[in-house]
Amino acid sequence: LSTKDVDLSAVPVGQAIKVMWQGKPVFIRHRTEEEINEAEAVPLSALKDDSARNANLPGGEEATDDARVTAADGEARPEWLIVVGVCTHLGCIPLGTSAGENRGDYDGWFCPCHGSHYDLAGRIRKGPAPENLPIPPLEFLSDTVVKIG
Ligand code: FES
Repeated sequence: LSTKDVDLSAVPVGQAIKVMWQGKPVFIRHRTEEEINEAEAVPLSALKDDSARNANLPGGEEATDDARVTAADGEARPEWLIVVGVCTHLGCIPLGTSAGENRGDYDGWFCPCHGSHYDLAGRIRKGPAPENLPIPPLEFLSDTVVKIG
């Protein structure tokens, strides 16, 4: 199956889950208001990779928080951050999805292989990884069901 439907109602605010899509992990984080504010406050000048890398956009957009949470319908849903969970350095799976795991210096994800830190929008902030975690194709079938792919 090339697409996957995920029921988001089981993901409480402040928590995240990992699902598999096309053999790759996808991280789904239900961000708190505070986390959204933190991610939105990051200036583009602080980013290592300023490209949105969102499959739902035509391409060439800057990596604003808004551009990182926009689905295929063009709507941004800041409470849901959904990224492909494969480190853009050498392909390890970053930590930070399960409770208690190291989320790195920017409260997002941390790749223990060589020390890459991703922020609350899945953007690379520190370490050897060159690119932001990519956003897969996303279609919200309802407020609580998202189709990945
Ligand atoms: Fe993630 Fe190297 S594979 S830092």
